[in-house]
Amino acid sequence: MYDYVSGICTLAVAFLVLWQVVPWLYLNLLGPKLFGPKIRLKEMGQWALVTGATDGIGKAFVKALAKKGINLILVSRSLAKLKDVSKDIQNKFNVQTKIIAVDFTSGPEIYDAIEKQTADLEVGILVNNVGMSYANPEYFSALPDRLKFFDRMMACNVTSVLRMCGLFLPGMVKRRKGVVINVASIYVYLPGPLISVYAASKAFVAKFSDALATEYAGHGITVQSLEPGFVATKLSKFSRTNMVVCTPETYVTSALAMVGFARHSTDFPFLMNFLCPKIRSDDFDDLLLSPRQVQARFHISPRGFIVNKLAQASIRRLLSVLLAKELNSNEGCHWD
Ligand SMILES: NC(=O)c1ccc[n+]([C@@H]2O[C@H](COP(=O)([O-])OP(=O)(O)OC[C@H]3O[C@@H](n4cnc5c(N)ncnc54)[C@H](OP(=O)(O)O)[C@@H]3O)[C@@H](O)[C@H]2O)c1
Repeated sequence: MYDYVSGICTLAVAFLVLWQVVPWLYLNLLGPKLFGPKIRLKEMGQWALVTGATDGIGKAFVKALAKKGINLILVSRSLAKLKDVSKDIQNKFNVQTKIIAVDFTSGPEIYDAIEKQTADLEVGILVNNVGMSYANPEYFSALPDRLKFFDRMMACNVTSVLRMCGLFLPGMVKRRKGVVINVASIYVYLPGPLISVYAASKAFVAKFSDALATEYAGHGITVQSLEPGFVATKLSKFSRTNMVVCTPETYVTSALAMVGFARHSTDFPFLMNFLCPKIRSDDFDDLLLSPRQVQARFHISPRGFIVNKLAQASIRRLLSVLLAKELNSNEGCHWD
């Protein structure tokens, strides 16, 4: 009997490893490392367009694509910064550039301007990177000037992705090639208390990308949703890099290597890609409680502890506590 049970257990573990771990390892680690890029980005078209191109992750995308000899359309808010970045990459990488200054929190007229200014350009790579988050973590009902904030957040994080895909996907479909990279966030997986609107807007981006990826897989178009963990940028307010915070350049190098492999990717560090989806929203519930409330909630007998804690997912709890510690140690205490 014992042999029978242990045989079944061994088979179950082997099945799990083959079914879950091996494909994950291939898509996220071994594939990009061993076999190199799956898609030749330069062959997708003469131009790439990056939104939010003057800082952080967007600027790193601009540089990495220019380094591959791809011409760049930079779309961002500040004209002075656009001119600086454009001049810099023209000098360094000898590529053509075009700059378009628009504010993605404003109305739909900006898309007419973008369409007009890109009418003659063959855009083969679209990076929907622009995004805004909270100035500080906040309860939903206490958000300052919240109606205006909702509109701005939706326009910048959600509408921009839809409208930019609307502008450039038809051309890719016609040419039967193209790459769309939509930048979501690790909050697609992590619980998002105190940044609920941001987290939900990014969940939209990931879900939309996923559906689009399937719709256009047969049309030669690759759609990827990036779900970055913690990247040292102005938006995240992380200034130092460490085990879980990387530079925009490191992040983008890793993300570009992944195009065509994983449809969803936190990319760096790889471990987060695997672990974060395992954390559940209620693991974070007690983070918002006062110490007294926490004490009251978790005051349980040793027997209760064993039954509850061990039988429940204590690894998930450990993970979320570690993550919360990391987030709270950040100077700005900014949850992104
Ligand atoms: N950094 C992270 O840890 C992290 C984690 C998860 C997801 N993300 C996502 O990654 C994306 C890029 O974030 P980031 O950290 O690189 O941000 P960042 O360093 O603050 O850069 C943001 C870029 O977007 C532009 N921008 C911001 N608001 C804009 C607007 N309303 N209209 C036009 N352009 C605008 C900025 O231009 P100006 O300089 O002219 O303002 C800048 O070029 C965002 O979608 C963010 O949600 C970031």
